[in-house]
Amino acid sequence: MSELINRQYYLAKRPASVPTPEDVPFRDVPVAKPAAGEAIIRNMYISLDPAIRGWMSDVNNYIDPIAINDPIRSSVIGRVVKSNSDLVAEGDVVMSLGAWERYTTAPAAGMNKLDENSGIPLSNFLSVLGPTGLTALFGLMDVGKPKAGETVLVSAAAGAVGSIVGQIAKMQGCHVVGMAGSEEKCRWITDELGFDAAINYKTCGDYEAAIKAACPNGVDVYFDNVGGDILDAALMCLNRFSRVAVCGWISTYNDADAPGPKNLWQLVAESATIQGFVVLDYVERFGEGVGQLAEWLMAGKLQFKEEIIDDLDNVLPGFLKLFDGSNQGKLIIRIPE
Ligand SMILES: NC(=O)c1ccc[n+]([C@@H]2O[C@H](COP(=O)([O-])OP(=O)(O)OC[C@H]3O[C@@H](n4cnc5c(N)ncnc54)[C@H](OP(=O)(O)O)[C@@H]3O)[C@@H](O)[C@H]2O)c1
Repeated sequence: MSELINRQYYLAKRPASVPTPEDVPFRDVPVAKPAAGEAIIRNMYISLDPAIRGWMSDVNNYIDPIAINDPIRSSVIGRVVKSNSDLVAEGDVVMSLGAWERYTTAPAAGMNKLDENSGIPLSNFLSVLGPTGLTALFGLMDVGKPKAGETVLVSAAAGAVGSIVGQIAKMQGCHVVGMAGSEEKCRWITDELGFDAAINYKTCGDYEAAIKAACPNGVDVYFDNVGGDILDAALMCLNRFSRVAVCGWISTYNDADAPGPKNLWQLVAESATIQGFVVLDYVERFGEGVGQLAEWLMAGKLQFKEEIIDDLDNVLPGFLKLFDGSNQGKLIIRIPE
């Protein structure tokens, strides 16, 4: 095989705020040779997740920060082009931990084979049938523990995770209210996904008043995707023994000096619980989770959106859409074969 050249986006310096092309430039380098037990995959899909912004910062996280000069870590789906392992063979399509790059060299033991002829678009394994759907499912059901008749409030509700959370909460018989950043997103979650109400947080004014109006019986479960002032307002609307499931704090990711929540004392006032989680906590149950999500999907009970952007060189501007809210659902980079 002639030498493969890899375009790779890497961390040149830690972003002070929104990542710039100076923070995350690219280089064209020879593809790393696979050691014993490793394989090279030619990436077809790259998942763009808000968490990646956290890994660019040198702070304690659930996995190590990306080191300076290392490629930007990401989940990928690709085709094996060379294998030094019995676990995967040339031509296999796999999902792996990879990076914002054309080729990834990684341990085959960490690669999950996907059936490209199953009729399920491969990109779905990064969205509704992948980490996104699993985050919504386990975060809501295991951490939020919704009961029929309760009120569930979700932020970033038209996003990849939030839109699934709201639909699962509806299936549990809950009153479901979503907060999102445009009229179009609010219409989508109420008119098409079945949320009971939506709050456009960019135009509603007083968050606390808007939540109280949309949740007349108070909030039993707050699924927090954003942190910041929306979390503070939601805390003021909690019911007794309510649960706050902290999934992510996207409003703070580009602002290291963002103030912390002021209203956590409401946990005392309402004997409420707050719990953070990462989807990796549930790795042993991923099979069960994918089965449940697939069942709902096939029964027409789950809808989802993917925004697929061609090509690798759009990876950084694509990633930034997560932070200005211009993404429509799960954001994925495609590198056509
Ligand atoms: N714990 C886990 O294992 C786990 C796994 C996956 C994701 N997450 C977290 O889940 C959250 C959603 O991730 P996702 O992949 O589904 O992304 P997403 O919701 O599809 O996209 C991010 C959305 O966040 C909203 N947003 C951005 N900045 C905001 C701000 N300052 N205030 C309020 N909303 C803002 C935007 O929607 P609007 O137009 O509505 O503003 C944007 O579309 C993130 O916090 C992420 O870190 C956690």
